[in-house]
Parts: sequence; C-alpha cells; structure tokens
Amino acid sequence: MYLILAKKILSDAVVELKVQAPEIAAKARPGHFIIVRHGERGERIPLTIADWSKEDGSVDFVIQAVGYSTKAICALNPGDNISDLAGPLGQPAVIDRVQSVICVAGGIGAAPIFPQARAYQQLGAKVTTILGARSADLLTWQDRLASISETLITCTDDGSAGEHGMVTAPLQRILQSDAEKPERIVAIGPVPMMKAVAETTRPYGIRTYVSLNPIMIDGTGMCGCCRVSVGGQTFFSCVDGPDFDGHLVDFDSLSNRQRAYRTLEKEAQEHHCRCNTKEAGQC
Ligand SMILES: Cc1cc2nc3c(=O)[nH]c(=O)nc-3n(C[C@H](O)[C@H](O)[C@H](O)COP(=O)(O)OP(=O)(O)OC[C@H]3O[C@@H](n4cnc5c(N)ncnc54)[C@H](O)[C@@H]3O)c2cc1C
Ligand code: FES
Repeated sequence: MYLILAKKILSDAVVELKVQAPEIAAKARPGHFIIVRHGERGERIPLTIADWSKEDGSVDFVIQAVGYSTKAICALNPGDNISDLAGPLGQPAVIDRVQSVICVAGGIGAAPIFPQARAYQQLGAKVTTILGARSADLLTWQDRLASISETLITCTDDGSAGEHGMVTAPLQRILQSDAEKPERIVAIGPVPMMKAVAETTRPYGIRTYVSLNPIMIDGTGMCGCCRVSVGGQTFFSCVDGPDFDGHLVDFDSLSNRQRAYRTLEKEAQEHHCRCNTKEAGQC
C-alpha cells in the first residue's frame, strides 16, 4: 500500500498527487515512469514520475482523468492508499550536455517534461520552454517550468492566455530567427502535437526527443502491447523507451494502436456498478 501524502487539484480533470514510495524515489531519474494499480482487480495505469524527493521518500505525479481508472485515482485523497506502484520503469531520458534546449509541452505533458527540463538546466543548458494547452485553465505547472527556464512561452488554442495558437508557432519562429539554433528539442504531449513538433524541427536537423504513450499493460517488456515502430524497427516503449527520436517515429501507427480499445474504454466509462463495491476495477 502506498500512502497519498498530498493532493492538489490543478483543473477540473487534472490532479497532482504526492505519494510515499521511498524505494521508487531513491532510484527515480528524468523520463522514468511508474505503473499504478488501484484495487485488487484494477487496471495498470502508466504515469510519468513528475518529481520526487529522496529525503522525504515521496514521488509526485500529475494525472488527467480521461477514463474509468484515471477518474478513480483522481478521486483519492490524502490519507488514502494506492494498492500498487511499480517502478521506476523505462529508460531514463538522455540528457546531453548541450548549450541550449527547447522543451515543448502540450497539456498534461507539462509535468512529465519538468524533470527533463530541470536536468538540462542543472547541466548548464539554456532552457526555453513552450507550454501549450486548449485554454488557460488547462495550463499546468507554469510556475515550476518558469523556475528552471530562461524563457517560458505559453500558448492556448482559444487565446485565453499567452499566445493564441499552437506550440509549433513560437517554435517555428525561434527556429527561423537569426538566433543560434537550439541543439536539442524535447516534446511531450498528445501524439498529434509531438508529430507536429517533429515535422517542424526536421528541416533543421535538430535532434528531437518525444515521449511515447502507447497503451501499456505489464510495463516490463512481456506483453508486446506497447510496441512502436521507430526507424522501421519495432521497439517496446516500456523497456526501450518511452523516449525516442521523433524524426524516426511512425506516429500514425501509434495513433491507430491507441484507438484499439476505444469501444471497451467507452463501455467501462458507461458501466454503472450495481455490486456496491467502491474500489476501482472491483466489478
Ligand atoms: C509512459 C506513459 C506515461 C504516461 N504518463 C502520464 C501522466 O504522467 N499523466 C497522465 O495523466 N497520463 C499519463 N499517461 C497516460 C495514462 O496512462 C492513460 O491516460 C491512462 O492509462 C488511461 O486509463 P483510463 O482507464 O482512465 O482511460 P481509458 O478510458 O481506459 O482510456 C482513455 C485513453 O487512455 C489511453 N490508455 C488507456 N489505457 C492505457 C494504458 N494501460 N496505458 C497507456 N495508455 C492507456 C488510451 O489512449 C485511451 O484511449 C502515460 C502513458 C504512458 C504510456
Ligand atoms: S507494456 Fe507490455 S511489453 Fe510493454
């Protein structure tokens, strides 16, 4: 059992949880994720470790309620316990010693990108962060990202905060300017956003890392569910990734695989429990 130490509600559908997990905090590195399972028959949900403290023995993650299991986890409160946390999983992100990096985050991607941006900053890189969301209320972790970025540019699709438009517009503007080009780009967010960022940076030949979020089950390379095509080869995102070279990723096959269980996911959301059990995944 893993005790929830703190909870922050970041928007209608997004919460930040701090959970006691000293073994995970001791080994966590930027890019790692955990698998969370709540309830004995709960689904296994992969979530990026957004921050951690070895001293407190705690890990933080930010979770968006998109379906049955994420809604159940978002409803938990400090003092509640999560049944299982497995991790840290995946390969840590490659953080090279570079002069400058642009971190591009879309929506909930703001939290997973934070430890990578901080690691670049700690290695002496000039960090520019571009943070986008559909609207102002969905902009997440602006303060934290501002604290480690030399420049933070925010954008919203509806123009309710920052620049009006998509994250690729300021990215394109920076790349087209006479200023020195960044040596690295890191993009974390929805698949169409990561694809658009990779297409924007491709003509400039700037190494662009993306963090892939295929459906995962075991998270340890056993089931093959998370397979992705990168440079014409098949990789298991949970053990070979989740970060890959964005210029080599087949984003269209990733999108198709993400849609594979839409009908079942919809059924799970519409299922109204009649067996009086409160635990997620128990019926
Ligand atoms: C490496 C990795 C890191 C992630 N980090 C975060 C994070 O930090 N914060 C966050 O909010 N979300 C994160 N996600 C996505 C999160 O795991 C899914 O939103 C969650 O599993 C949805 O489960 P559900 O039952 O609530 O929704 P469902 O209704 O079952 O599904 C909604 C959508 O979520 C995705 N999804 C469903 N099941 C899985 C699964 N087992 N594995 C991956 N995706 C799934 C699918 O695209 C699906 O269409 C991450 C995913 C991966 C692979
Ligand atoms: S989630 Fe099963 S192999 Fe990656």
